[in-house]
Amino acid sequence: MKIAFIASECYPFVKTGGLADVVGSLSQALATLGHEVAVIIPYYKKNISQNIEISPFFDTMCVHMGSGIEEWCSVKTAMPGRKVRVFLIESDKYFFRDGLYCDSFNNDFQDNPYRFAFFSRAALQLLRDTDFRPDVIHAHDWQTAAVCAYMKTWDWGESGIDKAKAVLTIHNIGYQGIYGADCLDYCGFDWKFFTSDIFEDYGRVNFLKGGIHFADFVTTVSPKYAEETLGGSQSYGLAPYLRSKNERYLGILNGVDYSVWDPKTDKNIPENFSARSFKGKAACKRELQRRFGLTEDENIPVIGVVSRFAYQKGLDILAKTVGRIVDSMVVQFAIMGSGEAELENFFRWIPGEKHGKIGSFIGYSDEMSHLVEAGSDFFIMPSRYEPCGLNQIYSLKYGTLPIVRNTGGLSDTVQQYCEADGSGTGFKFDYLSPDAIFDTVGWAVSTYFDRPKHIEKMRKAAMKCDFSWKNSAKEYEKIYKF
Ligand code: ADP
Ligand code: GLC
Repeated sequence: MKIAFIASECYPFVKTGGLADVVGSLSQALATLGHEVAVIIPYYKKNISQNIEISPFFDTMCVHMGSGIEEWCSVKTAMPGRKVRVFLIESDKYFFRDGLYCDSFNNDFQDNPYRFAFFSRAALQLLRDTDFRPDVIHAHDWQTAAVCAYMKTWDWGESGIDKAKAVLTIHNIGYQGIYGADCLDYCGFDWKFFTSDIFEDYGRVNFLKGGIHFADFVTTVSPKYAEETLGGSQSYGLAPYLRSKNERYLGILNGVDYSVWDPKTDKNIPENFSARSFKGKAACKRELQRRFGLTEDENIPVIGVVSRFAYQKGLDILAKTVGRIVDSMVVQFAIMGSGEAELENFFRWIPGEKHGKIGSFIGYSDEMSHLVEAGSDFFIMPSRYEPCGLNQIYSLKYGTLPIVRNTGGLSDTVQQYCEADGSGTGFKFDYLSPDAIFDTVGWAVSTYFDRPKHIEKMRKAAMKCDFSWKNSAKEYEKIYKF
């Protein structure tokens, strides 16, 4: 099959979260299964990997928007892994700025609906102009949900774009792309689609909702999250529209790329290790403690955090109890992330208060995120909701036991510890509160000191888990053929 991914991020080009990892690794996995896969992303000012050769593809391309507006852009191309061709849409007006979605104060860019409607249209224009003729066009999240609408409502002539299957994956329903309706003319969607079952949402335009309507198939990134969103508890108002898709809405568990995330081969960590030869983990822990200003002691368990600082992640609740935890238990925290200013300030400040017990890195660093995974004993994700979550899956591979809230993909990927026989791969709690976090961390820490044999058994079980794309990519294949 010929498959085109259209997304706002893709590893190793540009990444703010798990979306990039999934777009990068799922596209490769599908190519490995023998499909011809192209990925189309914006060309941002900041691409994280400087080592990829990016060449010009089209010097100019005209993109027709609504109201007869013409936007001009250029296109670049690269082949990072030799299997998947990546195209990058270059528009200084829309993408040559610091930040992907927000400014440095974490405020959404005002022109986001214009930027991503343009990008969605431009990606389809590129497919048309290159004569790629995809069987499937796979869009991701609200930023490219408009792709599904353009496919079904514009005249695509002989290009076959309107005949391709429109698949939309929801990585996070908490972000729907809701903006003032005045952008609709620029987007070029007929006002007849501005109804409550398609684009309209309390008088505004909801991109994700429109995408769900027009998509032939909608997926999300874990079975449990599919269930939660259908039930309404986590759907942010979209449950009725998801339910209306019937069997054309499905949760497929994300896979991960073990060529990037495996302690046996990871180039970002001081020493490699595996389930059989675990020694190297101690060197990683030492380095982590040193880099985070923690007391260097191999006998003190370290709990890691690598996260966007966003409401979704529940770190505000961890913030309420982390001081009490380190005051009453022998444990350390290595916390890295960026996002909401209040949380950034808190985690920047607290290491000074709890010297040697809590360390933090406020910012984004690919290399450091691998060190936190490798050097920690536990990894905490107290998420309010978590469509899939990749960090707990990486943690399992690094023998770093997850402490997670029992929700979404965290629920599907972490197996609860059983004190009777030491089975399980992590520690889960249901209700999100400072006390629940305190108690569950206490449970993990007491297991570390009192039942080390159980910790060893869990680590082995965790490192054996296989969350590669092998199975999940085949599930996508099935829905592409649906
Ligand atoms: P989400 O996509 O909701 O942020 P995931 O767990 O699916 O959550 O994926 C997060 C990805 O982003 C992981 O690969 C993680 O390592 C990475 N990440 C998050 N914050 C940072 C950071 N500050 N520096 C480096 N990588 C980060
Ligand atoms: C989103 C979700 C996260 C998921 C990722 C990749 O950002 O918040 O849970 O793992 O997308 O699908």
